[in-house]
Amino acid sequence: MSDDDAWAALADAFVEGAYATVKGQVRTYVLHQHLLRHLPAPPASVLDVGGGAAHQSLPLARLGYDVTVLDPSEAMLAKARQRVATESEAVRDRVRFIQAEGEKADGETFDVVLCHGVLMYLDQPEPMLDALCRSLAPGGLLSIMALNARTLAVRPAIEQRWDEALAAFDAATETGVFGTSTRADTVDHLSQLMRDREVDPVAWYGVWLFTDWRDPDPDDLEVVAAVELQASLRDPYRGLSRVFHLLGHRR
Ligand SMILES: C[S@@+](CC[C@H](N)C(=O)[O-])C[C@H]1O[C@@H](n2cnc3c(N)ncnc32)[C@H](O)[C@@H]1O
Repeated sequence: MSDDDAWAALADAFVEGAYATVKGQVRTYVLHQHLLRHLPAPPASVLDVGGGAAHQSLPLARLGYDVTVLDPSEAMLAKARQRVATESEAVRDRVRFIQAEGEKADGETFDVVLCHGVLMYLDQPEPMLDALCRSLAPGGLLSIMALNARTLAVRPAIEQRWDEALAAFDAATETGVFGTSTRADTVDHLSQLMRDREVDPVAWYGVWLFTDWRDPDPDDLEVVAAVELQASLRDPYRGLSRVFHLLGHRR
């Protein structure tokens, strides 16, 4: 494992910790349901940029999509390989891995490009947006999940860190759940960056809302996921979510 793998220290917390919670499972479920509304029929090629342990793209490989998981972190890719190794041979054959920074993706184009939970760890969104948009085939689908700059007061307020909540109304960054600094975006700004790169936004959604406010009983997972999906689809709930899911089509 290389010394400069920033995600090495977070891989266990993210894969075994965050994804084991109701919130983590709600996130995967809600994003997957959104994707099903927009994806082309399988088989189609999917590039998962910053794909981590392939939580979002492995279900797509199971549905018959050809998935490429691209991530600079050896530790996260190791988690992805472990998870994919337990799948059937047919699914394993549909997943490949590339260790690289997303910004450097160039040359190959895909029918679908995912970039979920990555922009918030980058100083600027533009170099990544350049790479995501140029990696899309004409008509291809871009799917971005980002931290919502409009709702940064939600988490400190819920946690009763009132001074931080007050400051968060005009902030563009916060200390994320893993203790690292994260940067927030807006739907409007990312939509404009997409348009500037020949990708027309088609829809945006919230992701999780109520699971931020109270830790649900794991026995209620199914109904909680159904509630969160409905909240993610409609106003005013979707706009209150701490993260948003934005999709667009390459011209
Ligand atoms: C919060 S995880 C999200 C993983 C996955 N997209 C998901 O939704 O489960 C963030 C991932 O972004 C990756 N990452 C960080 N900087 C990156 C970059 N410049 N290009 C591509 N991936 C990056 C990290 O290695 C990590 O796997």
